[in-house]
Amino acid sequence: MLSEHVSDEDAAQSTLAPLFGTRSLQEPVPKFRLPDSEMESRSAYQLISDELMLDGNPALNLASFVTTWMEPEARLLMTETLSKNFIDADEYPQTVEIERRCVNIIADLFHASAGDGQAVGTSTVGSSEAIHLCGLALKVNWRKRRAAAGTPTDRPNIVMGSNVQVVWEKFVRYFDVEPRYVDMVPGRSVIGVDEAMALVDENTIAVVGILGSTYTGEFEPIADLDAAVGELNDRTGWQVPIHVDAASGGFVAPFAYPDLVWDFRLPNVRSINTSGHKYGLVYPGVGWAIWKDSTDLPEELLFHDNYLGNDQITFDLNFSKSSSQVIGQYYNFLRLGRDGYTRIMRGLLDVAHHIADLAEQSGRWEVVSARGALPVVTLGLKDDSRFTCHDLSEVLRERGWIVPAYTMPPKIDDQHVLRVTVREGFSRDLADTFLDDVHAAVARLDANPPARPNRRRHHRSTHHVC
Ligand SMILES: Cc1ncc(COP(=O)(O)O)c(C=O)c1O
Repeated sequence: MLSEHVSDEDAAQSTLAPLFGTRSLQEPVPKFRLPDSEMESRSAYQLISDELMLDGNPALNLASFVTTWMEPEARLLMTETLSKNFIDADEYPQTVEIERRCVNIIADLFHASAGDGQAVGTSTVGSSEAIHLCGLALKVNWRKRRAAAGTPTDRPNIVMGSNVQVVWEKFVRYFDVEPRYVDMVPGRSVIGVDEAMALVDENTIAVVGILGSTYTGEFEPIADLDAAVGELNDRTGWQVPIHVDAASGGFVAPFAYPDLVWDFRLPNVRSINTSGHKYGLVYPGVGWAIWKDSTDLPEELLFHDNYLGNDQITFDLNFSKSSSQVIGQYYNFLRLGRDGYTRIMRGLLDVAHHIADLAEQSGRWEVVSARGALPVVTLGLKDDSRFTCHDLSEVLRERGWIVPAYTMPPKIDDQHVLRVTVREGFSRDLADTFLDDVHAAVARLDANPPARPNRRRHHRSTHHVC
């Protein structure tokens, strides 16, 4: 245990002592209560950074869409702005202005109607906060329409594929909305348009389309959903909107697939969320909620701040947060521009296609993910009678690779897959090393299959693919 009091003599001694000769690194440190006395900063740093070595290496974490590499200049700017509380708009007006520019840049990328700095949106901690905000706005808009028509407002529902990320399950539970899931079927691991329309009624606050399924990276057919919703609205007068969950695809599609029409160009798409910390290429956590125009954001949810002559609107679930992530986002916008993002996204897609091609050629894998989607490769073993993707994931972990194995959504959850998320920093060279390691792991399991192949099934709520 650390001593109660550090005398001046002790302090002088420990300043001189070699780091691993100091008492703090030689004595046990209490883990679940505050230590009685101080320790030197260098010892505290060493203790914690050493303990964190037990974590996985973020660069080898192919499980996550979330950014693990930024340029040194971005890191410098982000470190310099860590101490600025984003919510202090009066004190940090330029930070607020930079957020406004980011919102406008993203709204412009998504073809929102309000130009000239008038875009409607906000930064968030991630897509999850953005989804809660957009979902809440959809629910309030629906309630207002129903109340104005003198119709009941007590049974809101939302229609989405069962492949949604867990945040949507949280949204329906936190905000008391009935989820109506479109089941997946073998051969279709995204929402079915006809199946979705069959679930819509006058109490539907929105239909959700995912631009970049978390499971396979596939883009849902948003334009087809839009046409079907438009036709339904014309027939019934319901005014059902579409929300696009573009957590991952929001920063891929505008650059890699500029001709794909999925955003506010479609009349029924009224709000979009995206994660700046995924293909926006910023360290966690930053996300964005963008509305087509001000009519999509119910006034009663907004807090107005009249600062520097601009009407600053705040709508968030959170109050204080660091400014760093928004600044990091703006750095990327200035630094990369459209060309830079396009070059990066094309490069990531090339690496993903390379992995998919080689996996396919090996004859062992079924490639479940599609081209024309996110730079993600989802692979199922053609024959998993002797070992499964979960077994393979464990063997790869021994080399440091973190590759999640999971089951597909309900109804097609007899399929076990591995998902490789290609992010900035995952070069073609590293991809080849990874593939060599996959071949070696397969050979090892071929030679020594486990006594009982691991066939755990995850329910959607309990696994946290992100
Ligand atoms: C489709 C989708 N929606 C929402 C989320 C949640 O995003 P965030 O981690 O930014 O909160 C994810 C995370 O991967 C996702 O893939």
